[in-house]
Formats: sequence, structure tokens, C-alpha cells
Amino acid sequence: IIEKLKRGESLDSLIELPETNIRYTPPQEKTIFLKNFTPGTSLKSLTKFSPEEVITIIKDSRLKGRGGAFFPTGLKWELCRNNPSDQKYIICNADEGEPGTFKDRVLLQQYAALLIEGMTVAGYAIGADRGIIYLRAEYFYLKDQVQNAIEEAHRNALLGKNIMGIENFNFEIAIHMGAGAYICGEETALIHSIEGKRGEPSTKEYFPVEKGFLGKPTIVNNVETLCAVPRILEMGLEKYLAIGTPMTPGTKLLSVSGDCHKPGIYEIEWGMKLRDFLKLIEAENPRVILFNGYAGEILSKIDFDREISGENLLAEHIQFNLNDPIEYSRKMSAVGLRSGGSFMVFNEKRDLLEILKNITDFFVKESCGVCVPCRTGNFLLTKKIHKIELCHADNKDLDEIKEWSTIIKQSSRCGLGKTSTNALLTALLKFPEEFRKCLLADSDYNQAFDLDKAT
Ligand code: NAI
Ligand code: SF4
Repeated sequence: IIEKLKRGESLDSLIELPETNIRYTPPQEKTIFLKNFTPGTSLKSLTKFSPEEVITIIKDSRLKGRGGAFFPTGLKWELCRNNPSDQKYIICNADEGEPGTFKDRVLLQQYAALLIEGMTVAGYAIGADRGIIYLRAEYFYLKDQVQNAIEEAHRNALLGKNIMGIENFNFEIAIHMGAGAYICGEETALIHSIEGKRGEPSTKEYFPVEKGFLGKPTIVNNVETLCAVPRILEMGLEKYLAIGTPMTPGTKLLSVSGDCHKPGIYEIEWGMKLRDFLKLIEAENPRVILFNGYAGEILSKIDFDREISGENLLAEHIQFNLNDPIEYSRKMSAVGLRSGGSFMVFNEKRDLLEILKNITDFFVKESCGVCVPCRTGNFLLTKKIHKIELCHADNKDLDEIKEWSTIIKQSSRCGLGKTSTNALLTALLKFPEEFRKCLLADSDYNQAFDLDKAT
């Protein structure tokens, strides 16, 4: 940004992003986010329900964390509610940074009132009177908009003291700006960052619901998760459960980018077939999809006429069929749907090694550096990819990529390290020819080996 400013570009042109509207795919009555929202609607229903009943509704709705981990929201709230501490907190994780994800930005831009209401309902349910929105630094330009929504809620008595006339139901929300570190989206690093400490993950000796912000029980929920809460109360369980699949009711926002004619944010009903979704976004000769949280696993080669087989990272055999529904299931989780909802499409013309180098490089830059495997391993992997690109690598390098990637996955402290090599590993499994075509011939290899030794 500083470089651009030096070149004389105006600050406005640097920070204003085009507004992206959510494109919806289900019939209008089956959408969750795209309906008009009248602030206060779901809060009114709180006069009928006790906090425990609200938690039961959220549990029964089977809402799961939409940041990517899919932990049951109702259960998280219940664990926090049951903690005897007199002070509890709610943190909205708006540090959206997963490569290819931009759905929360759109919710913050267009549905801030929904988010505020979701946080307020959560406050009622767990017995917290304070909420914090942790807004990523890159979304600084949204801060005033979200702050205005908070003030508007105050003016309408939807925040503050004795909300909806319910005695002792007090709730306030503050915004805390991030400083541009991807790792601060990891909940323990995020909490440290708000506390004014260095944004590093801790080992999960305690979950935040036990000891979180300032050592008090805290729930950390993603923007989309919190935005779904008022809708569930407003619609009622029966209507909500009628949308989606039994395993994953409701809808999901997907951030679509890459080689397709209709990129943007899509609200899809869980259960939509991947094949139909690719048609809907008008994917252009898709070959590789990155469909996952941290790195994006390579899902499949796109071939509309046959089933795709592959192995997941646990080396279990999976058959992935483009007719499979997009839903949270063990199988989809294994192949990639443990994600905040990024969906990147690459066509035949894209250089897979270049994509992988880009992803690995991202983790080199964003690693907080505490663990050696994550800090050093990812750096060494970028060197390996570069070596393959230069056609200086051999089979031994491919074996080392597999071995080191596995070590990084197994020995890193937090999710960043644990998932940083997913794309590379799955690419090696599913697109081995991309790597092999660049390998050295035996004679060249020996020569390079001698050179290496000499150096
Ligand atoms: P996790 O599975 O460790 O935890 C998920 C949530 O459930 C956390 O809030 C945790 O505190 C809670 N939890 C888990 N087990 C619990 C228990 N036994 N008791 C109480 N609470 C419990 O996953 P993590 O590391 O928090 O998140 C990983 C996910 O984040 C990945 O799937 C990735 O896709 C996603 N991600 C999303 C990003 C985005 O921009 N949306 C960015 C980076 C990662
Ligand atoms: Fe930091 Fe990486 Fe270790 Fe996570 S895995 S704590 S980002 S070094």
C-alpha cells in the first residue's frame, strides 16, 4: 500500500473494494441470508425462551461452525453456559483470511445488523454481557459501517441495558482491529491479540469455552455462524430444518473465484451437487478445484463423465463423484469440505506448480514461527517446488516432499501448520504427472547430484 501511495494512487482507490452481492441458488423461500431482515425480530422471541431453551434450539438446528471447523455451535454455547464463571465473553471472528474466502466481508458489508443480533442472542444464551468483533486489518474500510450498525442498534434499544425489557439482559459490542496477520484468525492467537499480547497460537491446554479472553470462558464464532442464529429463531426450527440435508440443514455461503464466468458469493442449499454448482458458476474447462480452509485440497480432476478416485491424506480410499452432494459429511470433510467456503477453479492453462508454490509461500509468510516444522518445513518445500520447476529434481525430492509434508502436518502446534501442506500432498497424489514430467533424467540427476555435493 505504501508503494502504491508513493506512486500517487489515492487511498480511496486502494481500500474501496467493489460491493459483491450474494448470488443465491436455492429458491427464494429456501435462502437464509438473502431475506429482508428487520432488526429486533429474533430478539423479540427471547422474551419467550430461557437461555437454555435458546441453546436447545441452536443444538437442534445442527448449526456448525462456518469458519471451517464445523464444531457444533449449540454444544459450544452449552459448554460456556455451564461454566460457573461470573464473566463470559463472545468474540466474533471476522479475521477472514483463508485463501480465496471473502464471504464474511460481504456479510459485514451488507448484513452487519444481522451479525450484531446474532452476537446479542449468543450473549443471552451463554450469559455474557460483552462481545468483541475482531475485524481483520484489511477490512478496516468496513469499520465505520459496522460501528454505525452498532450505534443504530443502541438507538433502537437492541443493545445496552435490559434489552427487550428482559431484566439483567445487558449486552455491548466493541470492535477490535487486527493488524494484518493471518495467524490471528486462529482463535487462541486472536484472543492473545485482543489482550495486547503477541498473536501466537497456544497449545490447546484449555478451550476458550473454559479459559478464553482474560482467562474467562469465551465463545469464538465465525461471522456466518452468528448471522445464521437470528434467522433460525426467526424462521423456527421446522422451516429451517426443511432446508438443506438432514446432516447439514440450512444453507452455506461459498466464495467463488478463478476460471469461471460467474465468480462471487453464492448461497447454496446444502446438498447441491458439485456438478450442478460448477455449471451454475459457469466454470471454464475446470481441471483443479481448491476447495478447503487453509490451503485447499485438490479435490478432483474435473471430468463430467466419470467418477474420480483418489486417496485422502489419511490414505483412506475415497471415490469422489461429481454427483455427490455438497454437505458436511465424513466423506466431504475428508476430501475438502472442512472449509470456510473458498471455491477456486483453475482451468487447463494454469500451471499447477505455480499455484502450489503460491500457496506454500503464503504459509511461509504467515507462519508465526514458533514451531520449527511449520517455519522451516514450508520454506524448504517452496525450495523443492522451485527445484521441480527448474527441472532439477528427481524422485528422491518427491519422496522428501511427501515425508516432510507429513512431518509438518503431524508436528505443528496449530491448524495453520497442520493444514499448510494439504494442497501439495493431494496434488502429488492426484496429479503425479505434473511433477514427474519435470523430473531429471537419470544421467542429468547424477550430474546435478555431483554438483550439489561440490557446492
Ligand atoms: P478446531 O476443530 O480445533 O476447533 C473448532 C472450534 O471448536 C474452536 O472454537 C474450538 O475452541 C472448539 N472446540 C473444539 N473442540 C472442543 C471441545 N472439545 N470443547 C470445547 N470446544 C471445542 O479448529 P480450529 O483450529 O479452531 O479451526 C480450524 C478451521 O478454521 C479449519 O477447518 C479451517 O478451514 C478454518 N479456517 C478458516 C479461515 C477463514 O478465513 N474462514 C482461516 C483459517 C482457517
Ligand atoms: Fe505458528 Fe505454524 Fe506453529 Fe501454528 S503451526 S503455532 S503458525 S509455527
